[in-house]
Amino acid sequence: MSDSEFRATKWWQTGVIYQVYPRSFQDTGGDGVGDLRGIAARLDYFVALGVHAIWISPFYPSPMADFGYDVADYCGVDPLFGTMDDFDALLQAAHEKGLRVILDFVPNHTSDQHPWFVESRSSRTNAKRDWYLWRDAAPAGDDWVPAAQRMPNNWMSNFGGPAWTWDEATQQFYLHSFLKQQPDLNWRNPAVQKAIFEAMCFWLDKGVDGFRMDVLWLLVKDQYFRNNPRNPEYQPWMQDIAQTLPQFTADQPETHLIVAEMRTLMDTYSDRVLIGEIYLPLPDLVKYYGNKVDAADETPVLNGAHLPFNFHLIQTEWKAEAIARIIREYEAALPPGAWPNYVLGNHDQSRLASRIGAKQARAAAMLLLMLRGTPTLYYGDELGMTDVPIAPDQVQDPAEKNEPGKGHGRDPERSPMLWVDAPNAGFTTPDAKPWLPLMSGWETANAASQSKDKKSMFTLYRSLLHLRRVHDTLHAGAIADVRAEGDVLRFRRVGLEDGSSVDFQVLLNLGNDVATVQCAKGTVILTTLLDGVGAGVDGDIVVEAGEGILIALD
Ligand code: GLC
Repeated sequence: MSDSEFRATKWWQTGVIYQVYPRSFQDTGGDGVGDLRGIAARLDYFVALGVHAIWISPFYPSPMADFGYDVADYCGVDPLFGTMDDFDALLQAAHEKGLRVILDFVPNHTSDQHPWFVESRSSRTNAKRDWYLWRDAAPAGDDWVPAAQRMPNNWMSNFGGPAWTWDEATQQFYLHSFLKQQPDLNWRNPAVQKAIFEAMCFWLDKGVDGFRMDVLWLLVKDQYFRNNPRNPEYQPWMQDIAQTLPQFTADQPETHLIVAEMRTLMDTYSDRVLIGEIYLPLPDLVKYYGNKVDAADETPVLNGAHLPFNFHLIQTEWKAEAIARIIREYEAALPPGAWPNYVLGNHDQSRLASRIGAKQARAAAMLLLMLRGTPTLYYGDELGMTDVPIAPDQVQDPAEKNEPGKGHGRDPERSPMLWVDAPNAGFTTPDAKPWLPLMSGWETANAASQSKDKKSMFTLYRSLLHLRRVHDTLHAGAIADVRAEGDVLRFRRVGLEDGSSVDFQVLLNLGNDVATVQCAKGTVILTTLLDGVGAGVDGDIVVEAGEGILIALD
């Protein structure tokens, strides 16, 4: 490996990101919903765990139709979460502890209560009419169908039903890729771009360390509003949106121009990170790193997102061969100089430990934290939290309410963080009612209990994070020899050629049976079972089902 490959130096490359879903993290107000003061009160937890940055899901003023992803003011704090003073105090305290703070930014749509939309819908001639995507009803056919039912095209909402809602007052439809309370902005309008960039500057000027951009690959839509093609694989049990393929509603070429503009703006500040939420196949995903060729000397420049989120470990079958292939294909697809990243959970996905089981969740922790690239952890995964069953009368998520029973409700993975063995697990005051039910078993699964247990999931995460931090090879080195040997996923992490850093072998048994594999001479540094550390290895090594072993090679 050449020295140039050993080049991770930025905090967002060498560090680990932890996602906080603020409603569910820590409530100080006693209303059963988490708040900014709660996050501030838990900063020492992030330090003890060993993460470097927190990404906070939206806390802007919002009617909360989609729990904050419907923003009514890009430059404020919803009273439910606190005040701007609370935010300023949180940012300052985090920085004092060496923690970076990344905000969730929602550029694709606003709330229907945002003053921009209120103006836009007020009349067809309003100056902000074109800030959103308004269309006439489709022409009437022979059958008399009212205009309000003649959708402009076949585009569907991600939360069920058509992506168009009729506005009776102005006799047009507006587009919403999500809820009808979340109208899509018109990113082809330069005034919209300017307004959003100004809002980004508001936070960057305050000193936030970056943004996670919501649904970045959906920003721009086809300018001719063409119908999406039918999905031949659609089945009735699927979400409505799966009826068509998103040819004209996602990943449009013009989106890359917008991302490049965002990046240019971020680069006028020092050391900030631009992360994109992007669900796309690998070849399309890596294009979001950008790749402008500098006309002067033909050097390719990465002018896109620093980290287009890579969700493929969530979407790929939990099998050694499939995961090895994803890692190799991803590494091979990265443009020169692009830094990889991996995500195993978030507020939109069933919990890791529910998807693959408690045993494999330990191997997953080692996988995520030992791969080359920035890992993003979802709150509670470090405790092995699982999905919480939600009774029909407890449902909060609009995605579930709109398409009940299709299994896409996101409440199960948003249950309150478990802090201590005390009423409400310390998430909120003892007599408050948490907005979602607690996970059962919280009496022992909580962070305080697990931090005292030498074999807990929390101890495993903390140990992995510590090793990742102290070894250059693990946070900045290369990756080699990624392959499956039966059910065992194996790869090496490789340090500098001059031998000044240690090389590591990672062995992960993703199957259900014990396996024996070969390993070069070295010493066990950590196992996911948190035993056997210090043992010498040379040749055969036994890996239990769901076990991960980290070996420092001689
Ligand atoms: C993103 C968010 C999700 C939200 C949606 C609409 O996918 O992660 O929670 O509902 O965008 O903003």
